[in-house]
Amino acid sequence: MKIIKLKTQLDVSKYVANEIIHQVKNNPKSVLGLATGSTPHQAYQLIKEDYKLNNRDYSQVVTFNLDEYIGVDFDGPNSYQTYMKNALFDTLNIPKENQFFPLVDNADHYDDLIKKHGGIDLQLLGVGINGHIAFNEPLSPFNSLTRIVELAESTRIRNSKYFNSIEEVPTHAVSMGIASIMHAKRIILAVTGKSKQLIIKRFLEEPINEALPVSILKTHPNITLIIDEEAGEYISA
Ligand code: F6R
Repeated sequence: MKIIKLKTQLDVSKYVANEIIHQVKNNPKSVLGLATGSTPHQAYQLIKEDYKLNNRDYSQVVTFNLDEYIGVDFDGPNSYQTYMKNALFDTLNIPKENQFFPLVDNADHYDDLIKKHGGIDLQLLGVGINGHIAFNEPLSPFNSLTRIVELAESTRIRNSKYFNSIEEVPTHAVSMGIASIMHAKRIILAVTGKSKQLIIKRFLEEPINEALPVSILKTHPNITLIIDEEAGEYISA
C-alpha cells in the first residue's frame, strides 16, 4: 500500500481530482467506481472546474456508485443519485445510461454488470469512523458481493446531519460488497479530518479482520491511501 500524506483537505481533493482526470485522459473508456459523502465532494468540484476549463470528454466513461439508500425517493434530496447529480453528473457529459447505482432491483446482477463493462479501473473510497467501506459495516463478510445491507447505528447517527431527524435516516441500503470493491484494478482511499484519526490508526495497526472492514484493503495489490495531516496525525508517511 502506498501512503501519501498531504497538508490539507484541499491538497487531498486536488490529488484525487487529478488522478481521476488523468485516468480518463489516458483511457477515455474508463470505468470509475465512485463514492458519495463529504470526503470526495471537493474533488468532484475540482473535476467539474477542470472539465469546463479544459474541454474534457467523459462521453465514454462508465461509473458505478458504491451504494444507495433504500426507502428514499431516488430524485429526492437524500438519495445518493441526487448527491451525484449535484456533485458531478449535472456538469460532466457522462451519458445517463453509463451511470450505475446499486438498487434493490439490480443488486443481484450489479457485480455481473461491472464485469460486463470490463471491471472497475479506478475505485474511489472513503472510510466510515467504524471502519466501513461503502456500506459494508463491521462483520460484513470479506467475500460479500453487492447486496442489501443494514446500516450500523453509528452510521445512521453520523449521516443524520443530512436528514431532518434520525428517524428519517434509512435503516437499509444496497451496497457493493467487499469482494466487489477488492476486484477493482486500482483503489484510492481518501481520508481527511480529525474525526478519522482513530480509524486510520486502527486500520494501520490492527490485523486484517472482518470486524474492521477497511482492513482488507491492506491486501489489495494497487491501493493508495491519500490522507491529510489532520486524519494522519498518528502516522508518519
Ligand atoms: C459513500 C460510502 C461511505 C463513505 C464513508 C465516509 O458512498 O460508501 O462508505 O465513504 O461513510 O463518509 P464521509 O466521506 O462523509 O466521511
